[in-house]
Amino acid sequence: MAKLYVNAKNKKGKINKEIYGHFSEHLGRCIYEGIYVGENSNIPNVNGMRTDVVEALKEMKVPVLRWPGGCFADEYHWKDGIGQKETRKKMINTHWGGVVEDNSFGTHEFFELCSQLGCETYINGNVGSGTVQEMSEWVEYMTFNGLSPMTEERRKNGRDEPWTVNFFGVGNENWGCGGNMRPEHYANEYRRYQTYVRVYDPKKPIYKVACGANVDDYHWTEMVLETCSDYMGRKPYDFMNGLSLHYYTVPGTWDKKGSATEFDEKEYYVTLKRTLRMEELINGHGAIMDKYDPDKKIGLIIDEWGNWFDVEPGTNPGFLYQQNTMRDAIVAAINLNLFNKHCDRVKMANIAQMVNVLQSVILTEGEKMIKTPTYHVFNMYKHHQDAELVDSVIDTEEIGIDRDNMVPNLNESVSMAEDGILNITITNLSVTDSYPVEAVILEKDFTETFAELLTGNMKDHNTFDQPDAVRTEKFDKVSVDGNTLKFTIPPCSVIHISVK
Ligand code: AHR
Repeated sequence: MAKLYVNAKNKKGKINKEIYGHFSEHLGRCIYEGIYVGENSNIPNVNGMRTDVVEALKEMKVPVLRWPGGCFADEYHWKDGIGQKETRKKMINTHWGGVVEDNSFGTHEFFELCSQLGCETYINGNVGSGTVQEMSEWVEYMTFNGLSPMTEERRKNGRDEPWTVNFFGVGNENWGCGGNMRPEHYANEYRRYQTYVRVYDPKKPIYKVACGANVDDYHWTEMVLETCSDYMGRKPYDFMNGLSLHYYTVPGTWDKKGSATEFDEKEYYVTLKRTLRMEELINGHGAIMDKYDPDKKIGLIIDEWGNWFDVEPGTNPGFLYQQNTMRDAIVAAINLNLFNKHCDRVKMANIAQMVNVLQSVILTEGEKMIKTPTYHVFNMYKHHQDAELVDSVIDTEEIGIDRDNMVPNLNESVSMAEDGILNITITNLSVTDSYPVEAVILEKDFTETFAELLTGNMKDHNTFDQPDAVRTEKFDKVSVDGNTLKFTIPPCSVIHISVK
């Protein structure tokens, strides 16, 4: 019997809704086909954005969307993506499949998409191959309301009012595809570039994100923060609001990552073990951040995370298209529980990527669309957005099939929404075993519970022929005994219980 203790009175901080953020890059069929089909497409769309995808994403609640990359961001010149579509400059997308990028989806289209989704905007600027002037003019074009060459241009292109840029990334992976810089060099560039990310409307501050580390590159974190502290007494938080971290879960090696759908139990547990490393990384980078920023003013922004497998056989290797199984659902649930529990430092996270790329919530094929198991996890977990993290602890035991890759059997997080509803999410990592759970709810009276469950075999996934093979179902096997909930959590599953 696994005991879960929840102390509803012990609130541990706000779970920023942005932890449930997404990422859309000009990569493969994410933007083009996956989201944007153009006004003249036969696929139903509103101003070029496919209606089925937008509707599904709205239901799941996308709080914030990062764009245009990724590695693409440091090669993107925003002026190529404004004005008449027919005359927009074409470019080769060198990073991603060498295909022609016709720039028909640019700044105006991104804001149109975010307005349809009702989400915040996270723009990633170009440090690697762009200039300070280019970045500064982009911010002016998007957010200034007065008279200037950039605002005139914007108005000429049909947009009178400025938009809201909520988050702005100053470069992406500048230790790699964003310019192969050393941390000190990047940090100096960061200081310079961010100076010109002007806030034109004090009521709409722009949250500036500096490029952070790859996985466990603690030296990068240390040097960026050190370089952003200076003899004038300025601290890193005088220059940045957030520092990013990228960590992908790869069960194999970068050359042979492993298939998204064909894997055995051993590989399943290796995947979970590797994804659980996220906690070590949050703690490791967090400890360095604590040294420079003890009051936790700077958010850790995990703006790329998720499973990275080999591409589906027969698809363009540069398009990073992969299927999504119950294993992905478990990985999503584990990470989201972790982010919730570390919401004192983790202020935003953006799964890579929203449609048709890596661990997507949506896959499309022509006019068909499916929701993946990862979608269903985000949909169940949406109740945690902007809720208060509540103290919880669950009994666990180590499971697995080889000594080096043992994982805890259960993983949970609990929050309280503004209306007082308690939302509990628990994942059972075991492929084979179910576990009886007793959840003791302290410091809360309740009369009603509602539960939903996502479960299946580890390789189960949705296809365009069987779009609902994996889906969330109402779970009516929770019994209530005083302040205790009793139920059995099936193998390889994610459960959401709300307590009213
Ligand atoms: O998400 C795919 C790529 O992974 C991104 O473009 C890059 O930032 C990272 O290496």
